[in-house]
Amino acid sequence: MPLTHTRDLFAKALKGKYAIGAFNVNNMELLQAIIEACEEEKAPVILQISKGARQYANPVYLKKLIEAAVSLSNIPIAVHLDHGDSFELCKECIDEGFTSVMIDASHEPFDKNLEITRKVVEYAHKHNCSVESELGHLVGAQFDEGEEGGNYSHDGHYTHPEEAVKFVQQSGCDSLAIAIGNSHGAYKFKGEQHLDIDRLKSIKKVLMDAGLGDYPLVLHGASSVPKDIILEINKHGGKMGEDTAGVPEADIEIARRTGCTKVNIDTDLRLAMTAAIRKVFSENPKEFDPRKYLGPARKGVKELVRHKVRNVLCSSGHAFD
Ligand code: G3H
Ligand code: 13P
Ligand code: ZN
Repeated sequence: MPLTHTRDLFAKALKGKYAIGAFNVNNMELLQAIIEACEEEKAPVILQISKGARQYANPVYLKKLIEAAVSLSNIPIAVHLDHGDSFELCKECIDEGFTSVMIDASHEPFDKNLEITRKVVEYAHKHNCSVESELGHLVGAQFDEGEEGGNYSHDGHYTHPEEAVKFVQQSGCDSLAIAIGNSHGAYKFKGEQHLDIDRLKSIKKVLMDAGLGDYPLVLHGASSVPKDIILEINKHGGKMGEDTAGVPEADIEIARRTGCTKVNIDTDLRLAMTAAIRKVFSENPKEFDPRKYLGPARKGVKELVRHKVRNVLCSSGHAFD
């Protein structure tokens, strides 16, 4: 089965009111875990590759691994560049046949962000590739920076509905990543923090009112940083901060129903992998066969992905819609 276009996955997800899981791939075990879980759940999936993943694993290895996954499975699979930071990187991925790319110039002023996004859109659309862009700022690593979770200004960082309309209309991007209280990484918030669902509803509504239809929105930083996994890591020698919190899964579930069509999850996979590997090493310090710790790591990630697609994103069973 060839790759499925990101736009086709979005169209079906919007209709069915489920979200497509976009999981980050850095090596073979992560890829196998994601594909095995989605295959068994009959869930369509987006495999996403960051610049760092390309540097770590080499684009050719990643391409061949994904080719293997696509040929061995029969679920719809799209391939996406995560957080592309330049036109050149986006172009490379478009030329390699990615079905979508993200250009992330959200740190730039509005007009500069628009200009860079437009340039990527122009090239991508000539080559049958979709473009995700981002507006607003995800405030990450607040915990590390010593800030109290949730104390930053909504107006300063969150996506403004009216700006979202202007940005989508003028850039021509195919999906938009928004900032509504989501955040990257394992140290998102100190206390419980909730997504700004009212803002999400407003963004969705103004896009609809502007004639942009049921426009696909993207939720980055959607890891929930499960407490039991953090405790498991620390039980086996880890030293992760235990008073950290992620985005509650219940909020992601609401965001999914309200129109976040692509949900990006990376950290939770990393945590599941780390917990499994630490457990093997602490219970059997003599172990040195990589298959004996990467095997459990793959299993841990697989179960986590299964839980996300089944219980949070509700994409299970939609592979053949
Ligand atoms: O949001 C970023 C993703 O988690 C990718 O992370 O740049 O460390 O590969 P990375
Ligand atoms: P988390 O690492 O917080 O899950 O975020 C993933 C992400 O947004 C990838 O773009
Ligand atoms: Zn992200």
